[in-house]
Amino acid sequence: MAASDAREPLPQFPREFLWGVSTSAHQIEGAAGLRGPSVWDAFTAVPGRVKDGTTADVACDHYHRYREDVALIAELGVDAYRFSVSWPRVLPGGSGEVSAAGLDFYDRLVDELCAAGVRPVPTLFHWDTPLALADRGGWRLRDTAERFAEYAAVVAARIGDRAQKWITLNEPAEHTLLGHALGQHAPGEHLLFDALPVAHHQLLAHGLAVRALRAAGVTDIGIANSHGPTWPASSSAADTEAADFYDLLLNRLFADPIVLGRYPEGIAELMPGDDVEADLKVIAEPVDWYGINFYQPTKVGAPLPTATEFSGLTLPQELPFSPRELDDYPRTDFGWPVVPEAFTELLTGLGDRYGDRLPPLVITENGCSYEGIDDQRRIDYLDGHLRALHRAMEAGIDVRGYFVWSLLDNFEWAEGYRQRFGLVHVDFADPAALTRTPKASYAWLREALRAQRP
Ligand code: FCB
Repeated sequence: MAASDAREPLPQFPREFLWGVSTSAHQIEGAAGLRGPSVWDAFTAVPGRVKDGTTADVACDHYHRYREDVALIAELGVDAYRFSVSWPRVLPGGSGEVSAAGLDFYDRLVDELCAAGVRPVPTLFHWDTPLALADRGGWRLRDTAERFAEYAAVVAARIGDRAQKWITLNEPAEHTLLGHALGQHAPGEHLLFDALPVAHHQLLAHGLAVRALRAAGVTDIGIANSHGPTWPASSSAADTEAADFYDLLLNRLFADPIVLGRYPEGIAELMPGDDVEADLKVIAEPVDWYGINFYQPTKVGAPLPTATEFSGLTLPQELPFSPRELDDYPRTDFGWPVVPEAFTELLTGLGDRYGDRLPPLVITENGCSYEGIDDQRRIDYLDGHLRALHRAMEAGIDVRGYFVWSLLDNFEWAEGYRQRFGLVHVDFADPAALTRTPKASYAWLREALRAQRP
């Protein structure tokens, strides 16, 4: 008997709970020649930066196969599809001239989703900054936030009539840390703490985009931020201090300004611009909900005397903390620990931290990397995390939706195609066919969703 047959049915979620799947443009679209270049094109062109030496030039070729992919989404029975719009596909130079063909693609995709009864949930930025803007200074400059708001208005004017639920940015924390502080993601900068302006400008871009979307008549807006509990490596003062600092970077640097309208203590002084207080008013522009991407908790201790390897990253010694392996848990193929109870802890902890100020939550990403089509371990992961989510909701946390990362196996950034997060297998070994094969987890989720709607 398959493990999934032996499972207890999932607890019942509220009737109006929004079920969805997520993807991002650079990871699936391909058709790189039909858009402007982004920082990820430049990054992947440098040998050694992507572990398997691949690029996302073709990826899943979703640009040409979106109809097949929308059919898979509809057949799965989810309510909503979170995709991202590629900024350089819409504005090849980052600003100025709009590509009619680029906008047409999202128009067709949205039409196809609506015809299939699936709600489109666009994300405006999932890390693929137009290269033209990056070459001028990218997110280190305030100008990029202003260009982003113009781009938001262009996209909303085209698909805002059919897409009601929007996400401004995806994981500005990872984009700052991995892309600009540590150089492991595009644009490959090694700025360490000089990357703080990148955080501020993304937050400002978020606030300006909320205003631009509202001006275009959009009424349902959020952001997708990554969060996870931070556990000190020991109770020593050095370890707890290091863990608190890591918690500040991951869990508060981006959430406090959006939710409370202020930076954690000591941070505003480090941010660029003449009037950070005025910027904070823009950043705290009310959102309708707050998106959480959750994958794992992190154990953190005081810095170690040498550079550390962690989750495929090389972390320099200068950091005032060092993540440690969490040994007592099963791991995904990526080596990430599987700890569903940390998901409950995260959500109830956000409730404790922000109280009434916390907007309703939507889980905008949760998932795992495993090889294979009979992916029983992915079923275990999703089953465990959905139960953990339900427990947080029973404890009073207002969560309105859950999106699985990801619909398809895809280009997993610096890992290339080696980490498979999809509910649907994509055969990258046969680039002409790129055959999609629903995995066991896809069938499990379809049945679980049917049971939610008796
Ligand atoms: C998140 C990213 C997403 C994907 C998953 C595995 O950090 O938002 O694009 O890479 O991790």
